[in-house]
Order: sequence, then structure tokens, then C-alpha cells
Amino acid sequence: MTIVVGVTGGIAAYKAVSIIRSFVLLGHDVHVIATDAALRFVGAPTFEAISRNQLNTDLYEGVSEVRHVGIGKRADLVVIAPATANTIAKIAHGLADDLLTNTVLATTAPVLVAPAMHTEMWLNAATQHNVHTLRERGVSVVGPAVGQLTGSDSGPGRMEEADAIVAAALALASKPASRHDRAANSEAPRTARRDLAGHRIVITAGGTREPLDPVRYLGNRSSGKQGVALATAARDRGADVVLIAAHLDVPVPEGVETRTVSTTLELQRAVTDAASDADIIVMAAAVADFRPATTSDAKIKKDVVGDELQLSLVSNPDILAGLSADKQPDQLVVGFAAETESDPQALIELGRRKLRRKRCDFLVINNVGWRTGFSTDENEVVVLDAAGDIVMEAAGAKSSVADRILDVITSA
Ligand code: CTP
Repeated sequence: MTIVVGVTGGIAAYKAVSIIRSFVLLGHDVHVIATDAALRFVGAPTFEAISRNQLNTDLYEGVSEVRHVGIGKRADLVVIAPATANTIAKIAHGLADDLLTNTVLATTAPVLVAPAMHTEMWLNAATQHNVHTLRERGVSVVGPAVGQLTGSDSGPGRMEEADAIVAAALALASKPASRHDRAANSEAPRTARRDLAGHRIVITAGGTREPLDPVRYLGNRSSGKQGVALATAARDRGADVVLIAAHLDVPVPEGVETRTVSTTLELQRAVTDAASDADIIVMAAAVADFRPATTSDAKIKKDVVGDELQLSLVSNPDILAGLSADKQPDQLVVGFAAETESDPQALIELGRRKLRRKRCDFLVINNVGWRTGFSTDENEVVVLDAAGDIVMEAAGAKSSVADRILDVITSA
């Protein structure tokens, strides 16, 4: 297929080279449109050599071929990576003052943008509003990821990894409807049940990892399967889904906006950021309660530490309790409780104690152990409401358990 890759002016422009290369190696005809600002970061010969096509930059070049419309019309897919706050703003407002923004206005192909900018710029109300506008019009947004930024600070704003952008783009292109059809038909049924249409749901999944040194971490065995099943089911029921993914063992579902995180603090920033315009938040991720007090920059060497290694850990914030305490009116916060208690009555009591600590609207209790809960394709859950009463019990495939949990949420 013909893929247009738009590159705008951010330091992440160098990562666009890997994205272009992946598309070319997969056999696609790739045409790069770089803004003037992008060319301050990566030179034209790099884009031309990697894409194997002439670079497009100038709106006034090849005017007789009407290129500002022609490139967009020929495209089967448009990917803008990195997308700066400026370009996102221009597209949201329908401005067309360079070849890339003209192309976006002219195309009917699906468009995917991968934002990359500083955390403050990403969190700015103007940017959030513009991104929301793009989503409403059927533009797919992938990332940004949470992590180390160009400077010494970290937070949401880093461009999503190249592989994830390529996967999201190809998944988008394989969907049958055009972008305009998608925007117009955003209420069209995927399944008979569209009871989450118009809702924005944030789901955390997987397990966080706390680095000890560059090669080791403290983590847990969560595969992310239940969280991903929830994201898939919510998408199918019409929700606008943000998946905050911490080390998933399973692929992310297509049509779901995914933000990847690693540590508990990164997950906290990502979910707090996404929660601001969500009406449902589901904390399915297994979150590390503690992190090493210090992270060694070099590998911890056995011949230096000797036969016994004492680790000093500090506690991580309780994200769920924080989300419940700060929740907006009409927001619904759902927690999970991973317990190893085999006695059913004692299990419920542990759940009730956890509910009192975390004060969420619903708590999904699941039994985890060496062979149950984590990594398996099946799950067994009991759901408590805010008062501690059992409102649902379900067992079976994680996909059907996910639907039962969403039934509880939609009936609240
Ligand atoms: N959770 C969280 N922040 C943490 C730990 C857990 O937000 N620091 C969330 C999890 O995502 C889950 C719920 O709280 O939704 C319960 O997690 P769980 O691991 O079962 O409980 P803990 O709070 O870790 O308590 P304990 O280890 O004593 O069971």
C-alpha cells in the first residue's frame, strides 16, 4: 500500500527513520513529507535513502501536478510521527500552510498521529482539546508514552516506540472503513451491544517493574490478559478506550489508544493524565507496592556485594486510593484485588478490607496463585460494590469475565 509518513519538528524525528524503514521492509511504497522544522533534526538524504522515494517538503514544488492534493489522494494510510503540538493544533483547526497539513486535509485515508512533546505541552488544555477534536473526527492517536524525555525529566510526552506505531498503523489500515466513514459512523455497531458508546474508559493492565540496576528489576507475574480483555470488550461495546500497558505478554488490541509504562510512578502519571477526561477508570494492573530506595547505574556485581544482598525498598503511592480520593463527580473507579486466600469467606473479607482502604466504586476480587489468576486464559472473580456487598460472581474465559465486569459498570 501507499503510506505517507509525515515527520514534524521534534527530536523524535530520528525515530521516524525506523518507522519508515519498517514500512519499506514490509513492502510498502512510502512517501515522506517532512516539515521544514523536521529537516533541522534529520537531513533530507536520510529520508530519501530509507524511503527509496523522493522527499516531499515544499508546497510550491511541482505545482502543475497539484501535489498538495495528489499525495493525500494517493495515500492508503497517513502516519504522522512525531506529531508536534503545533502540527496537532493545525490539523485540529483545519489549517493548511505546508505540504503535510494540505495532505491531511486532502486525504480520505486513515490518519494516525504519534504525539511527541514535553509533558507540560502535552498536558496543556489547548493540546488536550486539539487531540480530543482529532479523535472525535476519527483520527487515531497512538501514545505518547510515559518515560524519560529529552532532558533529565520524565513524564507523558515521549513518542511511542517505533514498533508500536507501525503495528497500530497497520492495524488501522486493515480496518474496512475510511477515516471519514469512521468519524461519521463512530456510533455504528461493532456488536449488538453499544452500551459504552460515548464513554471514555481508562484501563491499566499488566505488571509494573522497578529497576534495581540496568539489567534487573522487581516485578510480578501479571500477563495483562484480563486488562487487555477488558479493553477489547469495552472497545467492542463502543467505548473510547485508553489502555495503560505495563509489560504485557499479549498484543494490544487494535482500535485502542495504548500508552506504555514501566514503573509504578510512570503508571501513576499516565493514569492520572488519562483520567482527567475519562468517566470510567479500571485499575486492572498489578502494581509494585515497593521500589528500590536506590537504582544502581551499573550492574550490581556479586564479587562486590558478597554472599548476601540486602535491598532497601521504599513504598510506592497507592494509585487506586489516590484516584478514588480525587475522582470527579460521575467518574467511576474500579479496582482489582489479587489475593492468595483459598477460603472463599476469608477471601471476601480481605476484599472488603481492601475496599475500605481504597474507597473505589467496585472491587474485583480474584484469586491468584502459582497456577491461577496470572497468565492463565481463565479467571474467577467476585465483585463488591462500594458498600462491600457482592454484586457479581463470574468464572470462565477472561473475555467473558471482562464482559460481566462491564455489565456491572454499565448498570451502575
Ligand atoms: N494498586 C495501586 N497502587 C498500588 C498497589 C495497588 O493502585 N501501589 C491497585 C491495583 O491496581 C489494584 C488494587 O490497587 O487495582 C489492589 O491491588 P493489590 O495488589 O491486590 O493490593 P495491594 O494494595 O498491593 O495490597 P496487598 O499487597 O496488601 O494485597
